[in-house]
Amino acid sequence: MYNPVAEIHLGRLSRNLQKIRAQVGDVLIMPVVKANAYGHSAVHIARKLQDEGIRYLAVFTMGEALELRQNGITLPILLFSRLTPDMLEPAVENNLTVNISWPDDMDFLTAYIADKGKGPKVHLKVDTGMSRLGIAFDEATDILERLAKTSQIELEGIYSHFATADEGDLTYAQLQTSRFNEIVDLAKKMKLNVKFFHMANSGAVLNLPESLFNLVRVGILLYGAYPSDETSENIKVEPVMNFKGPIVTVRKVSAGTPVSYGSVYVPDEDCNIGVIQTGFADGLPRNWYENGYVGYKGEQFPIAGRICMDQMMVNFGDVVPKVGEEVLFFGDDGENHIRIEDIAREVNLTPYVLMTAIGGRTKREFVED
Ligand SMILES: Cc1ncc(COP(=O)(O)O)c(C=O)c1O
Repeated sequence: MYNPVAEIHLGRLSRNLQKIRAQVGDVLIMPVVKANAYGHSAVHIARKLQDEGIRYLAVFTMGEALELRQNGITLPILLFSRLTPDMLEPAVENNLTVNISWPDDMDFLTAYIADKGKGPKVHLKVDTGMSRLGIAFDEATDILERLAKTSQIELEGIYSHFATADEGDLTYAQLQTSRFNEIVDLAKKMKLNVKFFHMANSGAVLNLPESLFNLVRVGILLYGAYPSDETSENIKVEPVMNFKGPIVTVRKVSAGTPVSYGSVYVPDEDCNIGVIQTGFADGLPRNWYENGYVGYKGEQFPIAGRICMDQMMVNFGDVVPKVGEEVLFFGDDGENHIRIEDIAREVNLTPYVLMTAIGGRTKREFVED
């Protein structure tokens, strides 16, 4: 039976974490394990991080948080998604931290606590410039005043999110940081008992040391990729995932014979074409065929023709690979090192899109090195 394989190197995750720790010092690291830990398997990644002494995790949805709880993850977990009344009960039952990102949230949370006597822990999200979730910056004073007047809501954190921390021009990110500093000052002046202030993601950890406050929410860097070509690479991370596909057929194709849909690829010499059982339904970007390549035994071979839904072809030239062997799409297998960032640039996507596109047909194999 063949299937694509994502080999997850948990040792690389630990080393990436150590390097990020060395950079941020005493600041708490909250790994972001949403979207199945960016395709790496949230349960396995969270277990490893729990063993590594991590003290807080973040996910997006209630479903993601419950999956971790059902698999033995006992760490505090912050949920990023918009709060709804039906999330309050499971949040309390499972010790999950929710966020207030709109004035209504505070209304139904207060009503819930009045009814049940207890609510979940809360982080207040303030929009300092992303224009996504979050209390508008200029309305934050009102909410902070409301929070200062109630002792019922356990406000553990205040946070915000950057729009451009991974860009070369950091002017806007600096404006967001200064707005957030105003919020921090205000909360302190109001004597709100807030434990965590946070806004930094991977881009900010690399680019904006002044934005770390006392907690950073790190995703992509932990998985061993850089958020964009414009961030510093001063923390040298290793790719946690090797994404590979099996060679299921090798056929001889004569010069001039088209390969794959649309017949857009026509080899000009006789060659060996390997059929690989991995396609765009498994997360390979369809247009990667244009300049794309895979790694095999330390060499790169061009992708031959359009990537299909479940399969794709590779031109191995004179080389005759064996059926059952694997090619590397990205990662580092010791012989080949293909950066996900390079593919992302070529196909005009980001490493985030490529990692999270790797879905359920891919078998995840966990290795300790
Ligand atoms: C609210 C929030 N914080 C932190 C992160 C982590 O970002 P990164 O993977 O760039 O570190 C994300 C990811 O999208 C996010 O949505």
